[in-house]
Amino acid sequence: MSKKMEKVFVHSSQFPEQVYRDYLAGFSSKQINHKFHYDSVKQSQKWLKIHEKYSPSRNNEDCIYAYKKCFEKARKLLGDNRHIQLIGLGSGGGTKDNLFVSYLSQKHLTYYPLDVSMSLSLISAQKVGMSFPDVSIQPIVCDLLHAGDLMYHIDQEQEPSVRIITFFGMIPNFYPGEILPILSNFLQQEDILLFSANLAPGNDYGKGIETILPQYNNDLTKDWLITVLTDVGVNPDDGIIKFEIEPDQEYPDVHRITAYFELKRDVSFKLDRNLIQWQVGERVCLFFSYRYTTPMIQNVLNHYQIDVLASVEAANQEEEVYLCRKRILRDKY
Ligand SMILES: C[S@@+](CC[C@H](N)C(=O)[O-])C[C@H]1O[C@@H](n2cnc3c(N)ncnc32)[C@H](O)[C@@H]1O
Repeated sequence: MSKKMEKVFVHSSQFPEQVYRDYLAGFSSKQINHKFHYDSVKQSQKWLKIHEKYSPSRNNEDCIYAYKKCFEKARKLLGDNRHIQLIGLGSGGGTKDNLFVSYLSQKHLTYYPLDVSMSLSLISAQKVGMSFPDVSIQPIVCDLLHAGDLMYHIDQEQEPSVRIITFFGMIPNFYPGEILPILSNFLQQEDILLFSANLAPGNDYGKGIETILPQYNNDLTKDWLITVLTDVGVNPDDGIIKFEIEPDQEYPDVHRITAYFELKRDVSFKLDRNLIQWQVGERVCLFFSYRYTTPMIQNVLNHYQIDVLASVEAANQEEEVYLCRKRILRDKY
């Protein structure tokens, strides 16, 4: 039977004042933070539908197999540790974390599904709770970009145990130089990181990205992305959503698919006391998704002292799952 009450932790990074600041900043700078595409129940439901239809991890057996093989390796690495904390960073619908839990036979497992969206962290919590009633579960609502003290707070919750952090499908939606130092700081010597990245398939990087463009350039995705604008009164006919493939500014070898709302006419609206004014021809960046190759991933992880112990690539080359640990920096002398 599903619970009638759920205790949810909300980190200060998602307290209303901070969220509203980020929200206003996005509209003023014409750069919408992707966290605002998952905020409401309506948006998270739209995203779950897209994920179900287009994500290789949902509809491609080879891809699911890659996750399973990597989970098997993680289980071996864990050995017979009895107490485990599983922290699902950006847990989304929780499908991958749920599959991973099926590989863990530990007696004492606590699962922390963490997401910026309350709705999605609860969906993950419920999914794992229904499949594994003996697992202790504590959903957390948090913005990873403003939560340097996150692990400290989680550590206050329970006695020391082996920590596994999952970070599935997250890296594409953040600037690499922004999220990786944060992730690296979260990791301690004994922790295990399970990480997955969406790749550009094939030997030709540019062509590979074009191959997967239809996973983004489609009506369901456009309808999801425009919701953040229509919610503030922008008319879908005020502009047009266009997708572009472009290089990152800091790491120009890494390219991303970016969705822009290109304005067909001037638009102005008020958010509280703030007047937002956009002019015809300007573009509002709604979303981006970086595409990597495995050498690129190894490179950026390496730069942030994260070692890949093992990895499994899906046969269609669209996704790869990595088993990682923090590199131990030893004194030279
Ligand atoms: C592409 S989905 C990946 C979901 C899941 N890990 C998976 O692989 O199916 C990105 C997830 O990150 C969450 N998210 C976006 N920005 C975030 C942030 N700043 N902090 C924490 N979670 C965030 C979204 O709500 C969404 O659930």
